[in-house]
Amino acid sequence: MSDTSVIAGPASSELAEKIAKRLGVQLVATDLRIFSDGESKIRMIRAGKNCVIVQSTHPPTDTHIMQALMMARKCAEDGAHDICVVIPYLAYARQDRPFLDGEVVSIALVAKLLEAAGVRHVVTVDIHSQLAMSHFASIQNVSSIPLLADYASRMKLQRPVAVSPDSGGADRANEFAKRLKADAVALRKSRDKTTGEVAVDEKLDINVSGRDVILIDDIISSGGSIIKAAELLRKKGASKVYAMCAHALLIGDAAQRVMAAGVQDIISTNSIPGDHARVDLSPVIAEALESRHSSA
Ligand code: R5P
Repeated sequence: MSDTSVIAGPASSELAEKIAKRLGVQLVATDLRIFSDGESKIRMIRAGKNCVIVQSTHPPTDTHIMQALMMARKCAEDGAHDICVVIPYLAYARQDRPFLDGEVVSIALVAKLLEAAGVRHVVTVDIHSQLAMSHFASIQNVSSIPLLADYASRMKLQRPVAVSPDSGGADRANEFAKRLKADAVALRKSRDKTTGEVAVDEKLDINVSGRDVILIDDIISSGGSIIKAAELLRKKGASKVYAMCAHALLIGDAAQRVMAAGVQDIISTNSIPGDHARVDLSPVIAEALESRHSSA
């Protein structure tokens, strides 16, 4: 991959550095200025023939998306042969269809914008749904489950149970549990499509009494889903409850509210930098980039 440069997007500079180091390729720094009206200006010294931009799209979401578009545009203007963008947390993937009449499929627009800026391929981590992927011409979704399960295996858990806060995450919990040699169960969650209010069915398909529980989800945003699940599990006699996820958005005081609901710890990947980002994604992202390069 000697012709490849990894460009350190302002949202993911540490992860970009780790990826470049693993690949043994040049790291291109970016110089960011934010004007008083919120506009971004990015300056980057010319990258190589093949560009890999690393930029997650956590809040400020639209700003981070715009910065990704700007970096891709610059690579294209400089005559890059191939532009790939690594977006560990891909915002808007939850808006993968119109849930209510009149809604825009936002992820389809994000895909089109990236393509228009010159992006040929996207690498992301634990995308919310297969449907979200279908809006991209070329996308690779990398799983963080093996890394999260490896972390959990070092936590000295007592008769662990992996719990998905909703049925949509059942496969994720099953895969995680298989690696951990633990049991798995999915709760039945419903969410009001207008207010976003979450409710969980109190009936559990497994006895969690006296057992350590790992709640496993793709995203923790407001914390609402994890809080409802943790409250139910504690009520059913679970011993220690932990929350693990790929993307810890943890908006506002979500982390404090999750802990106040009886969760011992929140563990996430470094798709979003922060206090809970304990699991480094660079091994699996570097592997995905290498396999794309060798099959090209
Ligand atoms: C929903 O289907 C997702 O998998 C997550 O459970 C959800 O996005 C988490 O959001 P919040 O923390 O706001 O409940």
